[in-house]
Amino acid sequence: MAETATLILPDGSRLDLPVVVGTEGERAIDISHLRSETGYVALDDAYGNTGSCLSAITYIDGERGVLRYRGYPIELVAQKSTFIETAQLIIWGELPTTEQRMRFSELLTENSSMPEEFRSHFAGFPAHSHPMSILSAMINALQSYDLPGLIIDDHEEFERVAASLISKVRTIAAAAYKSSRSEPIIYPRYDLAYTDNFLHMMKSKPYKEYVPTKAATRALDLFLILHADHEQNCSTSTVRMVASGQANLYASAAAGVCALWGRLHGGANQAVVEMLSEIRASGLTVTEYIARVKDRSAGIRLMGFGHRVYRNFDPRAQILKRAVDDLLDELHVTDPRLDIARELEAAALSDDYFTSRRLYPNVDFYSGIILTALGIPLDMFTVLFAIGRMPGWIANWAEVHSGPRGYATGPSRIYRPRQVYVGATEREWTLQSQRTVDVVTDR
Ligand code: CMC
Repeated sequence: MAETATLILPDGSRLDLPVVVGTEGERAIDISHLRSETGYVALDDAYGNTGSCLSAITYIDGERGVLRYRGYPIELVAQKSTFIETAQLIIWGELPTTEQRMRFSELLTENSSMPEEFRSHFAGFPAHSHPMSILSAMINALQSYDLPGLIIDDHEEFERVAASLISKVRTIAAAAYKSSRSEPIIYPRYDLAYTDNFLHMMKSKPYKEYVPTKAATRALDLFLILHADHEQNCSTSTVRMVASGQANLYASAAAGVCALWGRLHGGANQAVVEMLSEIRASGLTVTEYIARVKDRSAGIRLMGFGHRVYRNFDPRAQILKRAVDDLLDELHVTDPRLDIARELEAAALSDDYFTSRRLYPNVDFYSGIILTALGIPLDMFTVLFAIGRMPGWIANWAEVHSGPRGYATGPSRIYRPRQVYVGATEREWTLQSQRTVDVVTDR
């Protein structure tokens, strides 16, 4: 017999609610009929305890520090795969065959250039615009040139559009960087692999080709792999929300870029390095800085620490931490901020404020350090996160439109949460001459 949970309401009435069990044994109480049957809604501020969908893409066990893409542990994917193979795994659910890899690789190459007339849009942004602002606008604009409808049922067209987006996000990101520096945009090369091609477009000059070291390419590819998906995080939930209204893939992905930008989410990698620079410039010791964070009155958080889901360790952070050490040795990089980062990490990990709240370094703590060592400009950090997260957004967009792989659920209903209203109750209209409260500024 199917498992149920029984809810006893304040009036003593009872309601049996179905229990849904995931493939990893996760249990959820299905409250989708709660309101229609009782008039109650569930209240879960910031969705901390809400499963918003069934998904077959990524599994996280935050207590045990487990992260798997389509069943494959992140440690294995990081060791064995490339970003592009990982993208195919995440979007289509299986490791690609040689033929599938070659076809996708060709599609990436064919779709790597931006339409020529598209380039003029970059000139419309003032110099020093943040590349995230350019990236989100340009991804949205791409729809006008690539024109897919709801392409989910046409497998070939979906593959082409997925490849186009994964390939072009990299071209646009590099162009966004160049235009934010008033430098000429560099075209993609057809002989370079994905990550090298990005570095070429971002770092080459018309008169000088940039040639990355193998260690740099591998470190950046690893960064992209580790960011490729992370179940229902803020930006992915945003993509799903937009997709559920049946918006096209470009509009949904552009919304994902906007959601990612914030400092508590993808913007944290930039915020980590800004924090390290600030500590250095202020002359504060690490102990003094930690004391300011703990004091709370200054409203400072230790950026790159804490995670809604991981309560012991973030497995991506552990992989990146090892990569940081190798990379710094290999590149012979020295940067006083890297020493501050190490000191900060050691201090926080032995401080009761952080350990009692189960706040550990997250992926952004080390990714900020790695990107600094690679010489990536600060305002490009979150852009790189967006390039990495694109496969996850595409896979989640597709899941909204056709249901999780292996589940005959079909397309999702439109996402539309409820609320508990706490504003004014019905009141009389006040004539302008009798108004005393400034409704605009009085909050
Ligand atoms: N520094 C100091 N205190 C913190 C921090 C931090 N980084 N993070 C959480 N806390 C405290 C918080 O003040 C609260 O204390 P108390 O219970 O005494 O009021 C407690 O820990 C729980 O925090 P919360 O805000 O309820 O936790 P959350 O799950 O809502 O937030 C988080 C998760 C990641 C937004 C938060 O830990 C944070 O702001 N971290 C810094 C920003 C950051 O590194 N973000 C990247 C996250 S990982 C990648 C990604 O999602 O993009």
